[in-house]
Amino acid sequence: MLRAANGMEFDTNWLRKFPPDFRWGTATAAYQIEGAVNEDGRGRSIWDAFSHTPNKTWHGDTGDLACDHYHRYREDVDLMRQLGVGHYRFSVAWPRIYPTGGGTLNIDGVAFYDRLLDTLLAAGIRPVVTLYHWDLPQALEERGGWRNRDTVYYFRDYAGRMFEQFGDRIDTWITHNEPWCTAVLGHLLGQHAPGIQDPAQAGVVAHHLLLSHGLSVQAYRSQRAGGQIGITLNLSAVYPASDRPEDLAARDRMDTILNRSFLDPIFLGNYPSGLNEMLGSAGEAVRGDDMAQIGSPLDFLGVNYYTYQVVAHDADQTELAGVKDVTPRDEVTDMGWPVGPAGLTDVLRRIHDQYTRIPLMVTENGAAYPDQLVDDRVRDSARISYLKRHIGALGDALDSGVDLRGYYVWSLLDNFEWSFGYSKRFGLVYVDYDAGQRRLPKDSAWWYRDFIQAFRRAWT
Ligand code: FCB
Repeated sequence: MLRAANGMEFDTNWLRKFPPDFRWGTATAAYQIEGAVNEDGRGRSIWDAFSHTPNKTWHGDTGDLACDHYHRYREDVDLMRQLGVGHYRFSVAWPRIYPTGGGTLNIDGVAFYDRLLDTLLAAGIRPVVTLYHWDLPQALEERGGWRNRDTVYYFRDYAGRMFEQFGDRIDTWITHNEPWCTAVLGHLLGQHAPGIQDPAQAGVVAHHLLLSHGLSVQAYRSQRAGGQIGITLNLSAVYPASDRPEDLAARDRMDTILNRSFLDPIFLGNYPSGLNEMLGSAGEAVRGDDMAQIGSPLDFLGVNYYTYQVVAHDADQTELAGVKDVTPRDEVTDMGWPVGPAGLTDVLRRIHDQYTRIPLMVTENGAAYPDQLVDDRVRDSARISYLKRHIGALGDALDSGVDLRGYYVWSLLDNFEWSFGYSKRFGLVYVDYDAGQRRLPKDSAWWYRDFIQAFRRAWT
């Protein structure tokens, strides 16, 4: 039994369930932390346009300044070093590289990621890079965005250029982050940029996102880069409220919408039946060998997991495919998301059993809580408990034979939480937006440091 600095106990045998090279990391995304939206030639993105549209975000918050990471990246990398976090997932802002989506490379934008990568590597931190975490160049949106098949090819070319440019320092790539959110929140519910509410378009967008993913994987293979490439999906555990056939059918509909919509095309080569009726049709968007491209073999799958759902049949919920969310709400985070660590085990097992045996990585997991800064300290015991239980759930997945290789806490820093603006704090590190962006590790950050330390000791 090891005792970490804060008195918390970690059992050596339990820690050794995780392979010695398991990646313990943290995650962020460009628009949520960088700021500097008008600097060094960056073009506008759909999130600049959306957040500057009245009534789209909490208090009209925007990512104009965010955490000012663009200027403070050295301090942020140093924080990770102090926490002993050896792995970092971040995203490249496409409009910094190609301000209008394609054409001439913006050298100054590339230079920022050069500096960031060099700083990370010098600190012994290994990067995992997401190519698209929702910040489409606005110029492409004006030509139809992800509704237009041309964007697929712009993305493939941008991706190829990034492999060339940074392939010497990045060996793990993620094409898209949570394409479900772009399709459904961005084009069906209108809660995310570009704020469209059109079921038919949402299906087309999903297909184009998937195709751009597949073509980028192909580009990666043809460049014979030595590393690994995958995609990150947001997946949820969905349980039926009872064994009644109606509830079981409701569960299946919800599962199709939330999980199978992206898992099936990537790993089984087709869209699940019933999806079109529920969500709108990808219809004519599917051409030629698109499905084969989408199914290009991957090196790993990234899973983002936050919450679970219990659902019942309810014919009145016409807009929600006749599904009513009846999840117990006895423990919820500040997002109102029910806490269910066992769901994480179930999601990982299910992928392993039904879809693929490629390695899995949890590329996001974490929780927002209404953190209070008191006497220069944030005592976020609820977040520590959330993380502990979800890491515990990883141990259970490993016990069932799931090939799990990494876990990245969302997020390193409090940041711009999309339509919720700065009202939700997900960070291990508190950002004092009113005090010149001062960073202060929360108790959970020190807990994570101690946990990682104990893990390392368990293997030495
Ligand atoms: C995920 C997003 C990430 C963050 C977390 C809370 O859906 O990928 O950017 O907003 O949720």
